[in-house]
Amino acid sequence: MIVAANFKTNHTRASTANYIEALELFLDAYPNSCDVRVYPPATALLRADLSAHVKVGAQNFYPAISGAYTGEIGAEQLNEFEIKSVLIGHSERRVTLKESQELVAQKYAFAKENGWEIVYCIGEPKAVRERGLGAVMEYLWFQFEGIDTNYEKLSIAYEPIWAIGTGVSAGVKDIAEVLSALKSELAQTPLLYGGSVSVDNLSSIVSLDSCGGVLVGSAGLDAANFCKLIQIAQNAQKR
Ligand code: 13P
Repeated sequence: MIVAANFKTNHTRASTANYIEALELFLDAYPNSCDVRVYPPATALLRADLSAHVKVGAQNFYPAISGAYTGEIGAEQLNEFEIKSVLIGHSERRVTLKESQELVAQKYAFAKENGWEIVYCIGEPKAVRERGLGAVMEYLWFQFEGIDTNYEKLSIAYEPIWAIGTGVSAGVKDIAEVLSALKSELAQTPLLYGGSVSVDNLSSIVSLDSCGGVLVGSAGLDAANFCKLIQIAQNAQKR
């Protein structure tokens, strides 16, 4: 079970260090089988190899080792922190930052070439959801254009855009339908859900057969709350 926190543009270098320290202390005292990951902003990246329990990953990178890409970070910068886990395709990058499917696929190929673990994000806007499951799946499959889904270090995060940061998660039935449809083609790949995950809905989401974890935004910003989410995920998978 993957339990991952995406900080987005929140937390500083100092507060991230405190957060990871708190999380490490909690995980020392609470042995569990969750794959716990934190994706802080690039300026707050910490040496991933120095945390015993928490996997630190990158929210973004440019698909180059180094070079003339003003404002971007490449493999050279991530390697300095031993980062081996990355997010690709988040809707905030696709929509707000105008990342095309072509660039997303280039990033994916680059991450794969480097052997990084990838959490590949997909999700539909509200107007598509309103047209029903068929339209949603058609939209989501397009987001796999140029993506090698046989990559063994891949997890997929289904994050409906309308559920992100709204406090309104997708319904468990809708999540189950989408994850099952994805599972029919991607049997070996862990499937995560993201979008207003909270202490109140996490248990029912991770209890779904096809759900292999969660990618959490707002509810993961506070270390103590994120620890609660880990406990709930752990208990749900014991049942
Ligand atoms: P929220 O949990 O804040 O809705 O964000 C989800 C998300 O985008 C995680 O990547």
